[in-house]
Amino acid sequence: MSSYENILVETRGRVAIITLNRPKALNALNDLTMREVVAATAELDANPEIGCFVLTGSEKAFAAGADIKEMSEKSATQMYTLDWFSGWDQFTSRRTPVIAAVNGYALGGGCELAMMCDFILAGDKAKFGQPEINLGIIPGMGGSQRLTRAVGKAKAMEMCLTGRMIDAEEAERSGLVARIVPAAELLDEAIRTAELIASKSKVAATMVKEVVNAAYETNLQQGVLYERRVFHSAFASEDQKEGMAAFVEKREPNFQHR
Ligand code: CAA
Repeated sequence: MSSYENILVETRGRVAIITLNRPKALNALNDLTMREVVAATAELDANPEIGCFVLTGSEKAFAAGADIKEMSEKSATQMYTLDWFSGWDQFTSRRTPVIAAVNGYALGGGCELAMMCDFILAGDKAKFGQPEINLGIIPGMGGSQRLTRAVGKAKAMEMCLTGRMIDAEEAERSGLVARIVPAAELLDEAIRTAELIASKSKVAATMVKEVVNAAYETNLQQGVLYERRVFHSAFASEDQKEGMAAFVEKREPNFQHR
């Protein structure tokens, strides 16, 4: 595994833990951090021994947003020609399931990055927000779209228009996070959850990720048909044979994991 400046990457069995590590800037997501997250997850995605990622930050901040200092002097032409933030699309195309483990601030691009993950586990002190309006800008890493799909128009509109932060309780109530965990136990719980996912059939987990994500992009009829076709193709996998045989024989399945 390559070495990085702004992230730490560790593997524990079949789980890879990617930690945003720019403490002086509260893990603000500058261009280098984006490129490192993209590169690390590309390498890990290609590794059949890895079944799930955990993306996390520090106790104080998952990430306090895109790097304001890096952007502040840029012109519209530069932002457009560089297609600023477009690199994150590569992160969202990873096939391995990704859990965001969020302690502290997930603001602006930090909240948007957490929402790019497959689901969020929040520490009980986590705070989520889209404060871009306070800087005279708007969300630019998908926040207006993913937040609206996650929490609905009313709360997304209120958060983006006022910049108000919500705490972990409100985030869970609104459907933004899957579960709240005491802050000190968050990483361990995220790793345990990732280990559970990584213990399943990898082909089935990849299919789950694909069909649940399709719910964002298709109407109900097309989505249900797509799910059914992918379900049918699961019967081409050895893991389907093994999983069902194990159930019938009352034993644990021995999945291929690749
Ligand atoms: N970009 C660059 N640097 C940042 C940063 C950011 N998003 N967030 C924090 N920092 C830096 C601060 O400038 C400070 O650096 P210095 O010590 O060199 O001054 C350091 O991190 C510590 O921050 P604070 O002293 O501000 O810490 P605090 O505890 O007083 O406040 C905070 C914490 C409320 C999160 C505050 O840092 C804050 O409001 N940060 C900005 C949040 C924000 O506006 N995020 C949106 C960014 S724009 C965006 O993300 C666009 C998009 O859609 C992708």
